[in-house]
Amino acid sequence: MCGIVGAVAERNITAILIEGLKRLEYRGYDSAGIAVIDNDGQLSRLRRSGKVAELDQAQTLEPLSGRLGIAHTRWATHGAPCERNAHPHFSSHELAVVHNGIIENHQALREQLKDLGYLFTSDTDTEVIVHLLHHKLHELGDLATALKAAVQELHGAYGLAVISASQPDRLLAARSGSPLVIGLGLGENFLASDPLALRQVTDRFVYLEEGDIAEIRRESVRIWDLNGQDVQRETVQHQDGAEAADKGEYRHFMLKEIHEQPKVVQRTLEGRLGDAQVLVEAFGPQAAELFAKVRNVQIIACGTSYHAGMVARYWLEGLTGIPCQVEVASEFRYRKVAVQPDSLFVTISQSGETADTLAALRNAKGAGYLASLAICNVATSSLVRESDLTLLTNAGPEIGVASTKAFTTQLVGLLLLTLALGQVHKRLAPGLEAELVEELRRLPSRLGEVLSMEKAVEKVAELFAEKHHTLFLGRGVQYPVAMEGALKLKEISYIHAEAYPAGELKHGPLALVDSDMPVVTVAPNDELLEKLKSNLQEVRARGGQLIVFAAEQAGLEDGEGTHVVSMPHCHEVLAPIYYTLPLQLLSYYVAVLRGTDVDQPRNLAKSVTVE
Ligand code: G6P
Repeated sequence: MCGIVGAVAERNITAILIEGLKRLEYRGYDSAGIAVIDNDGQLSRLRRSGKVAELDQAQTLEPLSGRLGIAHTRWATHGAPCERNAHPHFSSHELAVVHNGIIENHQALREQLKDLGYLFTSDTDTEVIVHLLHHKLHELGDLATALKAAVQELHGAYGLAVISASQPDRLLAARSGSPLVIGLGLGENFLASDPLALRQVTDRFVYLEEGDIAEIRRESVRIWDLNGQDVQRETVQHQDGAEAADKGEYRHFMLKEIHEQPKVVQRTLEGRLGDAQVLVEAFGPQAAELFAKVRNVQIIACGTSYHAGMVARYWLEGLTGIPCQVEVASEFRYRKVAVQPDSLFVTISQSGETADTLAALRNAKGAGYLASLAICNVATSSLVRESDLTLLTNAGPEIGVASTKAFTTQLVGLLLLTLALGQVHKRLAPGLEAELVEELRRLPSRLGEVLSMEKAVEKVAELFAEKHHTLFLGRGVQYPVAMEGALKLKEISYIHAEAYPAGELKHGPLALVDSDMPVVTVAPNDELLEKLKSNLQEVRARGGQLIVFAAEQAGLEDGEGTHVVSMPHCHEVLAPIYYTLPLQLLSYYVAVLRGTDVDQPRNLAKSVTVE
């Protein structure tokens, strides 16, 4: 973890590597490093804990120059985040390795390598790879042959990039459980864990598959598959992506992405709505036939994507009567699951590379599910490639670590799924599909109206700047919305925030309520409104400060200790999408007031490709 960049060229590649790391910063990291084979054929390296900017600055003071190099941003797993543990790791000043993933048998390998005389200088699992490879290189001679032999002994997940001072014309790569992509140039070639890192130098990419090993030279690329066979992988030309690297007029990527929601929700809907119904084929040519067999839905996801899944459960069961279970992937993957007959296995993921979600999908294969469907934002991701059906959310690259537009587009995708299943099974109330299709068409412009409340939300944020704890309350389908609101606030402002179903308040959390504990609530005009109002009374009676995002018709007004932000009218079914936006803005403005690193909050990563 977390970002890899590599290059082999006729020109000095240092600036390309550093720029690549900058483009991967959004994924979250705590240290960075670069290694090149310099003009004297020696391996040189620079590493820094902290930001890529510090590495860049160090590089201007102690310039590195070379035509072959690798670079890395690290998100600590084994060993503290410090310079000594930062990648690249060396063996005997001959080999350098950067690694994403986790080597599970690192302890046993470390002992064996120590017995062979290798000295370890870091606490990382990665260092065993470089020494093991060094050992194999001296046994076998050729770097690719040595890498093939070394990975046989690794258990766990890896995306690796390797360079050697003894064979300075090639960059080696290996993929198992952690994505890697080769960028093709003219007389120069590149490697990265995410194509975004290489958009500055190319738009032609070759994605490595699980088990692939690649040898990348200036003029050629050779790939071997899992079985050691020479293979050709498809070259993909990317059209978009340039937009991602630019914050435009916005101060942070997160704010830009919040404001992109009307546009990207429009994109999620494009080509998926008929006159009065959802186009089932949007889920793939075999979707109609498969959906007809579905009697149960199992949803698996992590983080924000899990919250989207929780909203979908209310929709699926409430609108279609089809049973639905939702679980976080890290729990599901290690549990003995009783698979319901005719279950559709649905994964939700922005990146499509989250290790736990991918592992859950892989476990589900052969476990008796009807088929798998990925609701995902990255067309080229592992999740998409390994699922039977896909619905792309088309939100465009999301850079802010705290997910915003990915979440709302996932909700749109999940509502389309609900309507498609309801349509195929004829389970929707008469006229409901046509009504919701109409509402979905209006959704982008209505979300624009919600965003125009930004100033009011910014004002409310002032109430939080000095607080340490917050409660978020919601009832029914708004409970997961409250959970997502609490997650956003804790992620970027570091204020402890917990979400509760409002009805649970009196079963414990009410004990925490006092004037120092703001309580945030979403109150659309739905059938649970009156019950929610009673819960709010319980808070006020204990001196708690209420911040309520309420429907105009909800009959809630500003008063002593109660701050009401009025929300424009919306259809009850779509309310979770609308009410998410003010909560995103709230956490954003609280974080800005507290001066935190909004786009790259501490300790978090954008795409968690390790367990
Ligand atoms: C990380 C990110 C979250 C994200 C979660 C799941 O924790 O910081 O924002 O929700 O991973 O990621 P996915 O890409 O699978 O949606």
